[in-house]
Amino acid sequence: MDIIPRVGLGTWKASPGEVANAVMEAINLGYRHFDCAYLYHNESEVGMGINSKIKEGVVKREELFVVSKPGEKDVPLDCNGMVIPSNTSFLDTWEAMEDLVIEGLVKHLGVSNFNHEQLEKLLNKPGLRFKPITNQIECHPYLTQKNLIDFCHKRNVSVTAYRPLGGSRDGVDLLDDIVIRNIAKKHAKSSAQILIRFQIQRNVIVIPKSVTPSRIKENIQVFDFELTEKDMEELLGLNKNLRLATFPSTENHKDYPFHIEY
Ligand SMILES: NC(=O)c1ccc[n+]([C@@H]2O[C@H](COP(=O)([O-])OP(=O)(O)OC[C@H]3O[C@@H](n4cnc5c(N)ncnc54)[C@H](OP(=O)(O)O)[C@@H]3O)[C@@H](O)[C@H]2O)c1
Repeated sequence: MDIIPRVGLGTWKASPGEVANAVMEAINLGYRHFDCAYLYHNESEVGMGINSKIKEGVVKREELFVVSKPGEKDVPLDCNGMVIPSNTSFLDTWEAMEDLVIEGLVKHLGVSNFNHEQLEKLLNKPGLRFKPITNQIECHPYLTQKNLIDFCHKRNVSVTAYRPLGGSRDGVDLLDDIVIRNIAKKHAKSSAQILIRFQIQRNVIVIPKSVTPSRIKENIQVFDFELTEKDMEELLGLNKNLRLATFPSTENHKDYPFHIEY
């Protein structure tokens, strides 16, 4: 569980023109974990940022934990804009991913948006060569994911919280929630820092995204204070199982993970 640095930089919606600078800034500030994906269309620029810091001698490649997620170039859509489901079993996909580890192309494997049944199925796969080291899921005080986190931790699979700040606030403003603001005020911290610290204290890895230098800095300054038990209870009490990332175009897929509670 300690392989993955506890705070990483998210890169979704970080435009190619901004992300290299954000990555360089983050490395200067001590980030050693970067969350990327083919579908974010900015991986080469993330790589440029990393490369330039390696060249400067600020960091070594082996000190960095870089996450990617495979994606198809053109996800086939039907006339209603729904993803045309594939019949491939994710267990077969996992085997292909295991080959990448054997070939030395990747170091570790993880999953994302897996519900507990899918994770169980994978962990029980006959002949499993590598376990997933993390399940990356949406998590914040409006979607606390208690059951899924307990399930993962019991099986020694870490959890990585994505959209920890509530994303770019289309209609939902976690940062402005009065409970969160009051806790922030009490600790003389920002709401974002409270949301990040909340995950750390639940033993959950967290990947806030920012391309703004002052926020990139703020988001990693979360190791000099501690939320009290009461703070944690209040934050957990905000849960309303509100899922912000629902991937509606994939709802017809046989493996759509959100048809069950966790
Ligand atoms: N596996 C998946 O299916 C999946 C799905 C979604 C996301 N993810 C990953 O998780 C990462 C994080 O999630 P997310 O990007 O959706 O949302 P997020 O990290 O919760 O929120 C990002 C938004 O918050 C702003 N922000 C960052 N720090 C702030 C601060 N200290 N104060 C105020 N605002 C702040 C950012 O603005 P600026 O950038 O303008 O500063 C951006 O608009 C993604 O970037 C991606 O790497 C994975």
